[in-house]
Amino acid sequence: PRTLAELAEKHHKYFGSATDNPEFTDAAYLKLLGGEFGQTTPGNAMKWETTEPRRGVFDFTAAEEVMAFAKAHHQKVRGHTLVWHNQLPAWLTGRSWTAGELRAVLKNHIQTEVRHFKGRVIHWDVVNEAFNEDGTYRESLFYKTLGPGYIADALRWAHEVDPHAKLYLNDYNVDGVNAKSDAYYKLIKQLKADGVPVEGFGLQGHLALQYGFPAGVQENIQRFADLGVEVAVTELDIRVNLPATPEKLATQAAWYADYVKACLVVRKCVGVTIWDYTDKYSWIPSVFPGEGAALPYDENLTPKPAYHAIRKVLGG
Ligand code: G3I
Repeated sequence: PRTLAELAEKHHKYFGSATDNPEFTDAAYLKLLGGEFGQTTPGNAMKWETTEPRRGVFDFTAAEEVMAFAKAHHQKVRGHTLVWHNQLPAWLTGRSWTAGELRAVLKNHIQTEVRHFKGRVIHWDVVNEAFNEDGTYRESLFYKTLGPGYIADALRWAHEVDPHAKLYLNDYNVDGVNAKSDAYYKLIKQLKADGVPVEGFGLQGHLALQYGFPAGVQENIQRFADLGVEVAVTELDIRVNLPATPEKLATQAAWYADYVKACLVVRKCVGVTIWDYTDKYSWIPSVFPGEGAALPYDENLTPKPAYHAIRKVLGG
């Protein structure tokens, strides 16, 4: 096997990369995106501010650009994301809503988007980042107006229109066993007991060398699998304090290998997606000044030690 996608397939997993529309003018970038990866996630194109810029007016142009590329390269697509506190349109955040109004708006948003991509998007991040680090609910617009039941409702509404899509909850800092992942464990257990269609848990995996490798990643993946949901690593990247020395890149490579391995050994872990594949297009430097070099390819699209370490752990 020559590609990460092919190597992962031997383990019945996918190996994917997020992408974003501004990158679609970069031919060298697209060649690797289409050639090396078996799955993709639009980094921004399916978010609420983009897909429903005015109330009830939907625009899937950017998302369709990603869908067409994925189709041409036989890539699976993860839908990201239906309900999130970030990147919401101003018409939604700029006024207050009664619970009844917001329920109707939320239901229409979810069902219109899921229906549009029915049969083409196989995994949906239905609710993204619902918890705080201490395991309490994040006080989002949805939580504050609708209470915690918005999560079950969102899952049910999505399931109604596309019963075959795998519906996920997704978050960061839930890679290992900690208060936040415990909160998801309890919630998913309850949702399953209540017959709510939750079918997956997404570990974003935005790691930073300075914070250490999270404790108990494999154990954490396994406990969700044992609850009866699949697990996906959805947004993996591992940032370092710049400059990136050979020593830091070696540690980063070992971390990528360890994280991918933790997924490989759990049957119900379905695949790994990195949050774009090249440092050229990583979100990190704009949000964490002085940090970066988080992805397996450098800014010139040259594979780094992390790329080789991932290949090796996949058996290549
Ligand atoms: O669309 C505008 C464009 O019109 C403008 O010219 C440009 C100037 O800065 O900004 C553009 O918006 C940017 C948007 O990405 C689209 O490129 C925003 O400023 C920027 O903040 C936004 O960042 C995205 C971030 O989510 C926002 O929360 C990143 O690209 C995206 O990779 C990141 O992804 C999130 C996941 O959805 C959830 N998990 C964490 C992850 C990393 O933050």
